[in-house]
Amino acid sequence: MKVTVVGAGNVGATCADVLAYREIANEVVLVDIKEGFAEGKALDIWQKAPINLYDTRTVGVTNDYSRTAGSDVVVITSGLPRKPGMSRDDLISTNAGIVQSVTENVVKHSPDAIIIVVSNPLDVMTYAAHMTSKLPRTRVMGMAGILDTARYRAFLAEALNVSPKDIQAVLMGGHGDTMVPLPRYTTVGGIPVTELIEEEKLNAIIERTKTGGGELVKLMGTSAWYAPGAAAAQMVEAIVRDQRRVFPVCVKLEGEYGIDGVYLGVPVILGKNGIEKIIELQLNEEEKQLLENSRGHVKEVMDALDKINASA
Ligand code: NAI
Ligand code: 2OP
Repeated sequence: MKVTVVGAGNVGATCADVLAYREIANEVVLVDIKEGFAEGKALDIWQKAPINLYDTRTVGVTNDYSRTAGSDVVVITSGLPRKPGMSRDDLISTNAGIVQSVTENVVKHSPDAIIIVVSNPLDVMTYAAHMTSKLPRTRVMGMAGILDTARYRAFLAEALNVSPKDIQAVLMGGHGDTMVPLPRYTTVGGIPVTELIEEEKLNAIIERTKTGGGELVKLMGTSAWYAPGAAAAQMVEAIVRDQRRVFPVCVKLEGEYGIDGVYLGVPVILGKNGIEKIIELQLNEEEKQLLENSRGHVKEVMDALDKINASA
């Protein structure tokens, strides 16, 4: 299996590293626009192989898409990250230009690839990549839900003093402060979380999850990369190993949850064909309202991108 990661910055290089040391692909091609950057990162990861004992070949290129030809999966991380004081949406026009031109190159050389978008604002960059690629919606998706649920699960594990391995959760909506964590669908070793934690503490964790990306931006001056890179690699693994994992993934909704034409995170089954199935949960009225708020926000940013593209 061949996997390309576009953008050799913090998230892209971390994703490539996880793909290599966990031998998720035979070959990982890292692409960046900055001369020599991807080559250097790929060489560094390859030189770690004798230490960590893996044989995935990692190759870096500067903007040379011919080297990415025939990729089975492509992860797009190219674009600016958030700086303190910025929302993900502030990145829209710069990152849309980057994601659209990268997608054109990717599809030209790997028409059968499945594309995973990571660049922000995530839901709208997934829209940009999907429209540009002209691929079926099952083959162009965004990574955010695995990261957001991981943050939620990590905070819960800490509060309950249990292993993060035993916390299962699902979260829906856009990758932003309107995301919708779902306590009704959160369990700890099979036990509903609401039986183990007071409502007030759970609500505080939900609020911290919604602003979890911003918390890291404040601490580091740029956005996170270890968990985002690992989350994107986990999606690649589910696809190349046809694991049929159940993850929250951003995809274009076409009537599911009563929503049409908006890109939002929903639980899906991920396997060799990409999104094998969208799972429709029976949401209660409060959850439906939260999802509707999130839909409205993402749609506004999609409309803003449409205006930018129309005036270009
Ligand atoms: P970074 O600045 O470390 O890396 C971005 C890389 O993209 C840079 O090396 C840059 O040279 C490269 N690049 C820019 N234009 C390019 C082009 N046309 N072709 C190829 N490469 C190009 O940023 P970082 O931290 O890796 O974040 C990348 C993106 O991922 C940002 O938009 C960030 O907001 C987003 N992100 C999304 C998350 C999610 O959950 N979906 C989580 C974390 C970050
Ligand atoms: C994150 O959630 C900024 O989207 C990025 O860390």
